[in-house]
Amino acid sequence: MRQQIAAANWKMNLTFSQADALLQQLKATSFQLTEQQQVLLAVPAPYLQYAVQQLAGIHGFQVAAQNCYAQKSGAFTGETSLEMLVSLGVTHVIIGHSERREIFGESNELLAQKVSLALEYGVTPVFCCGEPLPIREANTQNAFVAEQLKESLYQLTAEQMQQVVIAYEPIWAIGTGKTATSLQAQEMHAFIRSELATQFGAVVADHTTILYGGSVKAANAVELFQQPDVDGGLVGGASLIATEFAAIIRALK
Ligand code: PGA
Repeated sequence: MRQQIAAANWKMNLTFSQADALLQQLKATSFQLTEQQQVLLAVPAPYLQYAVQQLAGIHGFQVAAQNCYAQKSGAFTGETSLEMLVSLGVTHVIIGHSERREIFGESNELLAQKVSLALEYGVTPVFCCGEPLPIREANTQNAFVAEQLKESLYQLTAEQMQQVVIAYEPIWAIGTGKTATSLQAQEMHAFIRSELATQFGAVVADHTTILYGGSVKAANAVELFQQPDVDGGLVGGASLIATEFAAIIRALK
């Protein structure tokens, strides 16, 4: 079976003491994760080192960054390099979240550079794609997402692609309480997998973990995660509440 992942995206939330309290609550909860199941915590950059220390030795838990820069090092005030992330023990990085695309103007081209550089450093990209509402209303979401994949991932070799996790996050479902139906999620995930099969071959497509994101909560996680092509979730709001996120972790296949 493909890797099944519950990924928390804390975004720009929580003071350090609140973040610590949430980490301690999760640490105090027992999860019997299988070899196929994994939990990622994408914490704010200032808490990365602390989170890595706190989660060291906790089976199946790893720390992710929410962003990285597309250059190796140098005069890029305020940015975080992949080398820095590696030096802290961070294993994953979210790349191309719709908030980065929309608020910070990150282009498919820039995201392609970030994905390639992350792989060069051995950091797993959690690459986000997904359409805004007008595109969904025009029923052109498949072409839109196909373009995002093409422009940011198709520079990779099949071998590199095996290291990438994809998160499909329809923008109209993020933070809105409006979840895609499990059928909408399944349809898009199957489409993404078929595109990957065409570009990278069936074996790579079959092994690629594709997460769903957008108002995932304890109440809908089981149904979403039961879909054959949905391999877990990227969770914003609900990941800030330990009991909610714990239930989402338990909903993994
Ligand atoms: P949400 O956010 O779960 O709050 O909708 C998901 C995300 O943006 O990754």
